[in-house]
Amino acid sequence: MTGPRTPRGPFVAGDRVQLTGPKGRLNTITLSPGKEFHTHRGILAHDTLLGLPDGSVVQASNGDDYLALRPLLSDFVMSMPRGAAIIYPKDAAQILGLADIFPGATVVEAGVGSGALSLWLLRAIGAEGRLLSFERREEFAEVARSNVAAATGVALDDLPPTWSIDIGDVVDELPRAAAPASVDRVILDMLAPWECLDVVAEALMPGGVLLCYVATVTQLSRVAEAIRLTGRFTEPQSSETIVRGWHVEGLAVRPDHRMVAHTAFLMTARLLAPGSVLPGPVRRASKTEYGDEDVELWTPGAVGDREKSDKRVRKVVREARGLVARPAEPSDGRNPA
Ligand SMILES: C[S@@+](CC[C@H](N)C(=O)[O-])C[C@H]1O[C@@H](n2cnc3c(N)ncnc32)[C@H](O)[C@@H]1O
Repeated sequence: MTGPRTPRGPFVAGDRVQLTGPKGRLNTITLSPGKEFHTHRGILAHDTLLGLPDGSVVQASNGDDYLALRPLLSDFVMSMPRGAAIIYPKDAAQILGLADIFPGATVVEAGVGSGALSLWLLRAIGAEGRLLSFERREEFAEVARSNVAAATGVALDDLPPTWSIDIGDVVDELPRAAAPASVDRVILDMLAPWECLDVVAEALMPGGVLLCYVATVTQLSRVAEAIRLTGRFTEPQSSETIVRGWHVEGLAVRPDHRMVAHTAFLMTARLLAPGSVLPGPVRRASKTEYGDEDVELWTPGAVGDREKSDKRVRKVVREARGLVARPAEPSDGRNPA
């Protein structure tokens, strides 16, 4: 059994190295004595890199410079094979903070998908923690296992002992895998997290954190109302994380032209102690089917937009008409007096 690779020190055989070549083009190689990295322009021998410090610049046979760096976890995650959509690093970072993942924590995660979040969670719980992952599709679990093995530099039969993946629906598997009130944190990244609330409430310990990652507002609304309806959790807190990169060069300092505008919403709630009732106003329970009366709840007035008065509307009509081009006056060919 080999231990996980520590991402520091001079390059050694087996290290993944990210090469930045001419025009910023990225390539990732796994260092192997005697092997070569070929491009259509030149060749770089892996042996050139072995023993050099991380962050070295080396030359290929045609004189092109290559910057060699060990990929950060965020680099790895963004370029790793994906079975299902991954949680991006910007959201993973927020999840670690909002769900308060700590060294030694017992964390439940469903589903596993491609294992992007699993990688961050495994790192955060450390050697004393436990990550219990659940995935319905065996083939996705396979992708996740391979990604975790590749990222940590271990063989598939040397995956971290702190990690397990149960294949099946988390609703069925979680009660079998975790004793009641034994789990510190639960992270749900799936289409229908509201279906799992009973088993999650059973597995979490009092004060434990549930975090749901959902892509659409309809999912957000539904899971928040379902959480309230259980009466077992604190008031759900919702947010999204928008990260805008900046171009900073001399006096040309401005936001990047392109960004990832939307990934998902994060919602957290904490489990109340048994028998505790959340103080505060009782909220209206949600329905999951929408009828005419539900649509009425979302009229501008109902959601706090003030209706414009008739007078105000008439004024706006006048202003709008005033902007319309007038037809030319009929002319009899004579000059006006
Ligand atoms: C978007 S992917 C998760 C991606 C993952 N968080 C990552 O960062 O790579 C959602 C996964 O949840 C799984 N899934 C959906 N509902 C599930 C359930 N009830 N129990 C277990 N897995 C479920 C799906 O098969 C899918 O692989």
